[in-house]
Amino acid sequence: MNLERKTKKELIERIRQLERQVAQGPSSSGQSAAEESLYKILAQSSQVGFYIMQNKKFRFINSHFRDYAGYSEGALLKMTPSSLILPEDRRKTRKNAIMMLKEQRFSPYEFRIVTKDGRIKWIMETVMSIAFRGRPAILGNSMDVTERKEAGRRLEELEALESSILDAIPQAVVGLHERRINFANHAVKIIFGWHREELIGKSITLIYRNAKEADEIGRRFYSTLENQRTFETEFPCLHKDGREILCRMKASRIGEKLREKRIVVTYEDITAEKKAQEELERSRQELRNLSVHLQSVREKESTRIARKIHDELGQSLTALQMDLSWIAGRLPSGLKGVREKTKSMAKLVDETIESVHTITTELRPSLLDDLGLPAAIEWQADDFQKRSGIRCQAVIRSADGGIDKDLATAVFRIFQETLTNIARHAKATHCKVTLSESDAELCLEVADNGIGITSWQIDDPRSFGIIGMRERAHLWGGTVAVRANKPAGTLVRVLIPLNKGGQSS
Ligand SMILES: Nc1ncnc2c1ncn2[C@@H]1O[C@H](COP(=O)(O)OP(=O)(O)OP(=O)(O)O)[C@@H](O)[C@H]1O
Ligand SMILES: [Mg+2]
Repeated sequence: MNLERKTKKELIERIRQLERQVAQGPSSSGQSAAEESLYKILAQSSQVGFYIMQNKKFRFINSHFRDYAGYSEGALLKMTPSSLILPEDRRKTRKNAIMMLKEQRFSPYEFRIVTKDGRIKWIMETVMSIAFRGRPAILGNSMDVTERKEAGRRLEELEALESSILDAIPQAVVGLHERRINFANHAVKIIFGWHREELIGKSITLIYRNAKEADEIGRRFYSTLENQRTFETEFPCLHKDGREILCRMKASRIGEKLREKRIVVTYEDITAEKKAQEELERSRQELRNLSVHLQSVREKESTRIARKIHDELGQSLTALQMDLSWIAGRLPSGLKGVREKTKSMAKLVDETIESVHTITTELRPSLLDDLGLPAAIEWQADDFQKRSGIRCQAVIRSADGGIDKDLATAVFRIFQETLTNIARHAKATHCKVTLSESDAELCLEVADNGIGITSWQIDDPRSFGIIGMRERAHLWGGTVAVRANKPAGTLVRVLIPLNKGGQSS
């Protein structure tokens, strides 16, 4: 019989006809034949493995069964059916089959077989008692479920891997669907004090300080994740014990679109980190204030000493100089030795006056007070050139338009430090200083053609000269950038905003 060519309707009709024959009266050879035909049709039309077993032998096997077992029909008819089953599954399978035959079990059972080529396959089976050729037999329907089983196993492995990854993460990880928690890792206990089981199924509001804030952050998450994959923020949360904690949160949507409103959020408790950061910032600010205070005290002290030396020592020396010249004018002509001595004394007094002048200028250049920053810079550049032999060109594009006196001092001290560095480290032959000023800012640039500076030297926490320059500028809201100059050497650029002003102490 060619089943493929038969239509479904014809097939059903034929099965009914055979059923009627089987149902008619006691056993006869006609009935047996009808019975066998019926099983054959059922077997061939079945989409699953189908067999009939009698006296512990297969009597009939369909093609699906042969396919997954891998044996020919002849070989299967000769073998003991249980030998197909993996030895360790035989007892259980037999027990399940008996229960099903006694109608004590109705759901299919699973077991493993060994195919002809030695592979292990998972089979799902149901059995029922039938009469075959007038004698009791077993009809089995079976299905190769290896792929499904494997997929299930892989899925289980993947799920186990996922949950172990989740539990290895120190941050709390929470999966949300419409703001309801549908999964959470173990770290939620550490961060929020809740067991994950307590959180699953609950609203996420539970871990925020109040419903309003929960709403606010939820809206931010969902609206941002519409357009981007991830979103990061810091937000206050609530521990189970009522403590407020600050969390760094990273949210990402699950899947390509946010259509289903499924997101996953990680929470990291940064309360202590934030506090330490604030404390660090506060102590840095305190140090800055202290350094500003010390600089200002030093500056005032220098000015006081410079004035005192100038006024007292300077005046005495000038008086001495005048007295000496008075004496020199009145010495009798014969006293050659005394005349010589007076001359050398006058020279010494001149030199002392000169060095007093240098000392006072170094302590506090009077030019800065008298003529302002541009003139003081020009003078300092000239003086540096004379003393160091390094050519120093000054370009001044700033008229001392009422620059604050303390600001002028700060910029002048920064300039002096750059010149000291050039003399000490740069091995330069030339340097150029430019002072310019716009409405918005004051700019001082000092460039040399020396050996240059490395980024390591610039950022070295022991570079106190550079740190001092930065601190002075910072006080006025300004910056100091130190970098390599082109084609060679070092460039220091000081920028001070003029509209902001600064605090002086
Ligand atoms: N113009 C420059 N050319 C080459 N190297 C420089 C220059 N200016 C600074 N440096 C390098 O940067 C380092 C740090 O400079 P900084 O002024 O901070 O410290 P210092 O001059 O060594 O010591 P201090 O200024 O505290 O007396 C220097 O030691 C030097 O190596
Ligand atoms: Mg220095």
